Amino acid sequence: FRLKKHKKITKKSLASKLQTKMPQISKRLEGKVAIVTASTAGIGYAIAEGLAENGAKVVISSRKETNVEEALQQLKSKGLDVSGCVCHVGKTEDRAKLLELTLKQYGQLDILVNNAGISPAFGPLLKTTSEQWDKIFSVNVKAGFQFVQEAMPHLQQTNGSVIFNSSMAAYNPIQMIGAYSISKTAILGLVKALASECGPMGIRVNGIAPGVIETQMNEMPLSNDAYREQVLKTIPLNRFGKPSELAGLAVFLSSDEASYITGETIMVTGGVHSRL
Ligand SMILES: NC(=O)c1ccc[n+]([C@@H]2O[C@H](COP(=O)([O-])OP(=O)(O)OC[C@H]3O[C@@H](n4cnc5c(N)ncnc54)[C@H](OP(=O)(O)O)[C@@H]3O)[C@@H](O)[C@H]2O)c1
Repeated sequence: FRLKKHKKITKKSLASKLQTKMPQISKRLEGKVAIVTASTAGIGYAIAEGLAENGAKVVISSRKETNVEEALQQLKSKGLDVSGCVCHVGKTEDRAKLLELTLKQYGQLDILVNNAGISPAFGPLLKTTSEQWDKIFSVNVKAGFQFVQEAMPHLQQTNGSVIFNSSMAAYNPIQMIGAYSISKTAILGLVKALASECGPMGIRVNGIAPGVIETQMNEMPLSNDAYREQVLKTIPLNRFGKPSELAGLAVFLSSDEASYITGETIMVTGGVHSRL
């Protein structure tokens, strides 16, 4: 553009002119539709928000209706295009409802984020009861696997992508949450096995592995000052992570920028070494 000869150019006027002349930078996930499980709080919520901020239409869910309603309200108040319903990931009929809502509302599915994970057993691994073991593996591993099976025909239509939420505990089991850690190690294998099988169908499958992120999940142990200090010493960045710090990676892995990445699990740990 040409500036008028005698007009005083201020920083503000230049910025506004540049803004009107520059093409809008397109959002990375424009036109894509995502499901994020366990997404009314914590990491799942932050991922849902990040995907929606980048242009995706996002369907959120969790077990409690009031949580779903509150989260929807919060996200909609930011102008984001979101829907949601109740879904306990361990229940086949709930997953079917979530998938049905997504297809009815938005007509397609491009991104499936299997985020749900629970850690109900605290104590020595050898003391884990059969019920605790089954519950952990049912929610953390089996439900996400089944959801991929169920969503497969729709993901195939869009050359979609799947993300599983693992953990740094997958690489080095954390004391007192042994069964949880092992379930997260299983996800590393699940990601690789699914990536091999789904690759020829045009579907990518990746994992994210958070370090210690301040959420409801670890509110209790981190409220103990001595334990908090002890854990902090193991983190090179010397702080815990925020749920929003997982969103960027989920957006990237779901986007076309990651079109040649599959079968990977990427750590977000503030520098904690966690490789097999
Ligand atoms: N926080 C960390 O430090 C950390 C580290 C590594 C990995 N991760 C992994 O990250 C994922 C999210 O963890 P987070 O820390 O964000 O957990 P969180 O804060 O405890 O997340 C709770 C969310 O999950 C929902 N939820 C719980 N059980 C569910 C179920 N069976 N079905 C559907 N929704 C369910 C809750 O809503 P309702 O109560 O309404 O169901 C809520 O929306 C998990 O897979 C976890 O293992 C977390």
